[in-house]
Amino acid sequence: MDFELSETQRLIRDTARKFATEVVAPRARETDRHERFPAEVYRQMAQLGLLGINVPAAYGGAEAGVVAYSLAMMEISAACASTSVGMAVTNMVAELVVAFGTDAQRETFVPRITSGEAVAGAFALSEPHAGSDPGAGYTTAQRKGDRWVINGTKQWITSGAHAGVIIVWARTSNDGNKGLSCFIVEGGTPGLHLGRAEDKMGLRGSNTVPLIFENCEVPEGALLGRLGDGFKLAMVALDGGRVGIASQACGVGRAAVEASVKYVKERRAFGQPIGEFQALRFMLADMHTQQQTAELLTLRAASRKERKLPFTREASMAKLFASEMSNRVCDKAVQLHGGYGYIDEFPVERYLRDARVQTIYEGTSEIQRLVIARELLKSLG
Ligand code: CAA
Repeated sequence: MDFELSETQRLIRDTARKFATEVVAPRARETDRHERFPAEVYRQMAQLGLLGINVPAAYGGAEAGVVAYSLAMMEISAACASTSVGMAVTNMVAELVVAFGTDAQRETFVPRITSGEAVAGAFALSEPHAGSDPGAGYTTAQRKGDRWVINGTKQWITSGAHAGVIIVWARTSNDGNKGLSCFIVEGGTPGLHLGRAEDKMGLRGSNTVPLIFENCEVPEGALLGRLGDGFKLAMVALDGGRVGIASQACGVGRAAVEASVKYVKERRAFGQPIGEFQALRFMLADMHTQQQTAELLTLRAASRKERKLPFTREASMAKLFASEMSNRVCDKAVQLHGGYGYIDEFPVERYLRDARVQTIYEGTSEIQRLVIARELLKSLG
């Protein structure tokens, strides 16, 4: 197993790190406090190739692979998770269109995403009553001549109010999971209405809205993949998406460890820096070990995807462990900061709020365990 990064991977990581340090981190507090959607940051990211890292150059992507994508996600997430969640979903949408789109769909939509023209991509799968069980969605798409007419409500849509390209799942027959199909809908299409943006605990700079479809008509060519294949497309996209969220959790966890190290060196109690106390050193050692373990699991899942090996189980393991890790580590970081951890003078309270959703979105920890157990039983069956 090779733990060394290639030149391309190092280049993407260093580019993302520089951008994160110089552009993303200085705005992170304001992005969070004032719920400022980072549209301008995404435009700059597009110029660096960060909105299509694992997308062929022919469609404006960086063509740098999945490991490079994961490394870049870790860097941007360490600076601002509100920004990185939109980056993750945009990359996921671009990859989905490349993987399942027709030539016309790829040529039309992917360069719009990678160039930043679309601002962001959105992934409209969940519904108010169907999150863990997306096959239970009510949204429908009905044929009307050479058009599809979409009706229904999608919920929790990241970047939904800003995205120029939205992938929407809708029922084209009553055949359970097999009745779902997938459509590419452009932002601003008549009949697509935005609900009220959610007032969230964390990721407050990210935009999360319901999307309401009322006789929203899209052309025949908006169907992505084959009719009835929507559920499988969602599962394939989510396998990759989970590598992205695992990477986000690694980045936030790393930021929490780094902030804690800085703090225990500066803060003094009982006549010495608090980092001299063994109780806190043990806490830091555990935080760092868990964070590094999550990185290894995540990069392994990314590497398997890159090498086109099965990676469903590995992606779920990485997502499960990394998201649980970031919650534990950020909680400890707040504890290490004492009263200062609980106010916004230090970033650790934001890290903890941002980490909280990671065990929920792109499949809860319970769904990840279900996927891991199924795959394990299959492999040993
Ligand atoms: N890759 C390819 N195909 C897959 C697959 C995968 N990883 N997983 C399942 N499938 C296929 C199966 O092979 C099966 O195919 P056949 O019918 O031909 O046999 C079909 O899909 C149905 O599979 P299951 O029977 O396993 O489906 P299920 O109903 O039991 O559900 C589940 C499985 C894993 C629970 C799934 O529903 C799931 O992942 N739920 C969580 C949904 C989720 O993660 N939502 C996140 C929303 S998006 C988001 O959060 C984005 C954001 O904003 C950040």
